[in-house]
Amino acid sequence: KRSWAEPYKIKMVEPVKMTTREERQKAIEEAGFNTFLLRSEEVYIDLLTDSGTSAMSDRQWAGMMMGDEAYAGSRNFYHLEDAVRKYYGYKHIVPTHQGRAAEHIISQLMIKEGDFIPGNMYFTTTKLHQELAGGTFVDVIIDEAHDPESEHPFKADIDLNKLEELIKEKGADRIPYVSIATTVNMAGGQPISLSNLKEVRKLTEKYDIPIVHDMTRVAENAYFIKDREPGYADKSIPEIVKEICSLTDAATMSSKKDALVNIGGFLAVNDEELFDKARNMVVIYEGLHTYGGMAGRDMEALAIGISESVDYDHIRARVGQVIYLGEKLIQMGVPVVKPIGSHGVFLDAKKILPHLSQDQLPAQSLASAIYLDSGVRSMERGVVSAGRNPETGEHNYPKLELVRLTIPRRVYTQAHMDVVAESVEAVYENAKDIKGLKFVYEPEYLRFFQSRFEVL
Ligand code: F0G
Repeated sequence: KRSWAEPYKIKMVEPVKMTTREERQKAIEEAGFNTFLLRSEEVYIDLLTDSGTSAMSDRQWAGMMMGDEAYAGSRNFYHLEDAVRKYYGYKHIVPTHQGRAAEHIISQLMIKEGDFIPGNMYFTTTKLHQELAGGTFVDVIIDEAHDPESEHPFKADIDLNKLEELIKEKGADRIPYVSIATTVNMAGGQPISLSNLKEVRKLTEKYDIPIVHDMTRVAENAYFIKDREPGYADKSIPEIVKEICSLTDAATMSSKKDALVNIGGFLAVNDEELFDKARNMVVIYEGLHTYGGMAGRDMEALAIGISESVDYDHIRARVGQVIYLGEKLIQMGVPVVKPIGSHGVFLDAKKILPHLSQDQLPAQSLASAIYLDSGVRSMERGVVSAGRNPETGEHNYPKLELVRLTIPRRVYTQAHMDVVAESVEAVYENAKDIKGLKFVYEPEYLRFFQSRFEVL
């Protein structure tokens, strides 16, 4: 087997700061043991998120110079609209400043008090917007998704029995839509198969329930379909992406991920009436319907980024880098979510820190320990991210208690991945010495971003 490498070379570099362990100890204490509260300058390799952290191409930067900063009818909006129609196939778009703004609009427009929204595992902002609109999220993903050891190739598939039972129990009129994410973030970046999506489509058509697609990482999902799903090896990434989108009625997009820009998003819809309402609502919260919170130059970079995101060589290198890190950690014996997902490697904190109960916040503690060891910044995806049950006020206890090493696109080298793997291995070897954490400050919404902790 011959080696292959990234389909780009580096034209500009951004120096990063190396820190001492003493400096990192001080920094993580000041950050209340929350990696979101560290300053980026205190970080050596930043694997907090793949959101807005990608390196843009020279073509995208050239596009930034072509910004038409008109308040209304910017040329760049029409380029973006063309790109969405060409690559995704949705009829209409409403630009927004980022993904959660699109989630806000669709949730407010489609969800009524007392509704239920089934989905393939929750995402933090998506679920919160559903709840703020009066709905209740119901997880109908297959059970394998909650098992870090299961090697199921499409862990984001919907359990059709769970979905149909919910529809029968609550009634189709209480289910405004089914929420389907391509590559499920909280399950470890796992894909949904096209065969499953087609089955979901058949079932929901029977009950006249639309599908809203969280297409934040749709190209990464398409890569796994091409690689793993029978019948798709000879289909191109753009063909697969288009087929996924064609099975859904509307989409929310955080273009800070797949689409290779630092800020932006949109809501895409096919239904004319819904489009009218969304286009009217965006002017209240975001901006006029031809910019929705984005500068003209950002829309241009996004239009170009969409076309780059579906390039096979790009997406193979992107997912390939994540798999490189994941396989290295597997070889080292570190417990991770399997199979390796598309946007990051997810460490199994329950297995790495078996001496901590979930109330002692194992994933939060592990993320702090990794930062302290090497300056690598990761993120908790466990009980802290899961928040509290709005009715009982108790913690939600997710089965998965994970630390996410999220890989920005086109930013780090293979040597960076080696440094990360060696740091995680070192922390794993001394894991029994890691102490748990407790909350000392907890905000009301999306608490993982701003909570502060103390060592137990
Ligand atoms: N949907 C998914 C699947 C996401 O991963 C995100 C963001 C959003 C929606 C919201 O989009 O941030 O543009 O408002 N995920 C980031 C992350 C924050 O780090 O995983 P946004």
